[in-house]
Amino acid sequence: MPPLRLSHEIFPHLPDVKANHKAGLTNPYHTKILEEDPNNQFLILGSELREVAGHLRTWFQKKGEQNEGSQPQHHRLVVEVGCHYGHVLTQMAADHPNCYFLGLDITLKRVYQSAKKIKQQALHNAGVAYFNAHHLPHLFACHEIDCLVIFFPDPWHKKTKQQKHRLIQERFIRNLAPLLAPQGEIWFKTDCEHYFHSVDQLLLVHGFQTKQQSWLAEIHHHKKKQPYVSLFEQRFQELGQPIYEKIYSPPKSHQSIK
Ligand SMILES: C[S@@+](CC[C@H](N)C(=O)[O-])C[C@H]1O[C@@H](n2cnc3c(N)ncnc32)[C@H](O)[C@@H]1O
Repeated sequence: MPPLRLSHEIFPHLPDVKANHKAGLTNPYHTKILEEDPNNQFLILGSELREVAGHLRTWFQKKGEQNEGSQPQHHRLVVEVGCHYGHVLTQMAADHPNCYFLGLDITLKRVYQSAKKIKQQALHNAGVAYFNAHHLPHLFACHEIDCLVIFFPDPWHKKTKQQKHRLIQERFIRNLAPLLAPQGEIWFKTDCEHYFHSVDQLLLVHGFQTKQQSWLAEIHHHKKKQPYVSLFEQRFQELGQPIYEKIYSPPKSHQSIK
């Protein structure tokens, strides 16, 4: 199977399925995506994604109206970077029907599986985009994101030579800060203590502040079980490995930007 990982293209299209098939390059998830979601109800990519960039709430409102009738003007927008198979995304979307949830991932298989889960559960407040989070400012407008969820973004972090490829670095944080709403937040989890401390330091240096709890978890505060345990988190828990997590609110300087 060809890798089809997003690299240089910001809004990549699905390659022409027939042409690729002839060339023996068919990724089975091309065809599956087209069959499962021909009208981009759950999964957006390529030119459709480019069109809705900076207007993600409008995209959700329109699809909500098609399925459930009139939608409130302002729903919070939650973005999950590296949504994998949509495990956490769908749980959060089911718990918060008055918020919109967009998952981003860089493999066709994972966005397809996430979209399928969203469709099966008829979660009209959730969607998934085939998009590389390195390009967030191309997809979101200033203050558009209410919560950015990043759980276990880089599994290869322990190899020193790979650390330069980590997602959360200075540039990522500089790009992200203006995209967060004034009352927005970042919810970050990792299994790597060193990565955790380096991200923590970078965020604090850039004026982010720590928060006790994410508003997403508030409805679970009375429950003993921790909410939104991702598949990677489950694996680390089973191995008895510690998890490092923190919630941050954006820098005050960005809160006055209109
Ligand atoms: C280690 S997995 C964690 C998945 C899930 N968040 C969890 O905690 O179980 C990392 C996920 O992030 C995705 N990913 C890696 N780099 C990404 C990027 N630059 N933009 C969007 N997704 C990315 C991967 O494809 C993968 O699904």
